[in-house]
Amino acid sequence: MTKLIWMSDPHFAEEGDVLGHDPRVRLDAAIAHINRNHADAAMCIISGDIVNRGTRAGYKGVKGKLSDLDITYLPMIGNHDSRDLFREILPLPDTCMADFIQYQVATPDGILLCLDTHKAGSDAGEFCPARAEWLRETLMNAGNTPIFLFMHHPPMALGLPMQDTENLEDGDGFLDLISDFACVKYLCIGHVHRPISGTVRGIPFSTMRSVLYQAPPPRPEWTWETFKPSNEAPNIGIIQLEDSAVRIQFDQFCEYQLGVTPD
Ligand SMILES: [Fe+2]
Repeated sequence: MTKLIWMSDPHFAEEGDVLGHDPRVRLDAAIAHINRNHADAAMCIISGDIVNRGTRAGYKGVKGKLSDLDITYLPMIGNHDSRDLFREILPLPDTCMADFIQYQVATPDGILLCLDTHKAGSDAGEFCPARAEWLRETLMNAGNTPIFLFMHHPPMALGLPMQDTENLEDGDGFLDLISDFACVKYLCIGHVHRPISGTVRGIPFSTMRSVLYQAPPPRPEWTWETFKPSNEAPNIGIIQLEDSAVRIQFDQFCEYQLGVTPD
């Protein structure tokens, strides 16, 4: 059995407040919870939006915090990140592509593929031919080894009021690619700051709450103009891989109020 920790969207900012939530306090709480309860995990995957504004200070700050983790972490790129600073400052596996933050990590129970869906200057994501070619080749080489995909942007609509305008561009093309491969067992997605699970083209998926702030549910309807984080507590995911099976526990690591500025 392989145990992994899944953390999403910490939106770290040195200056503190992001939409009334303190990313330093929330990340500290997540790290303390992991070290206390899940130091037996093989690694911690962070599915994008590592920092809120893609600055050097942000990456240096988050790297300092993440060095407190007792387990290895795998940072992934999201729309709020800067690819150049990310690569310069954060530790990446040797398997990482030269031009993208896209890499594979082998575990005893399958291969984790951490994909790069970042599109410079856009909140929506993209998966260009170079990244798609890398993925196709990696899937072809995997044979019967189970593959677990991690990506920041959803390749399909999820029925949320605004985020569906900021998904992966040409998500259908991406799904065409992966649904050709029976080795693809699960899709773990960041970006939406809400827990959603289901299947797409027969492939099971989950999204994850943010470490920092949560997006409200679809009703009542909201827009970016009226957006206000919901008062739901954050959680991390505890993933167990065993014989091609996947179990994900949603694990609340602090109270909602921790690090939140009262109205
Ligand atoms: Fe985010």
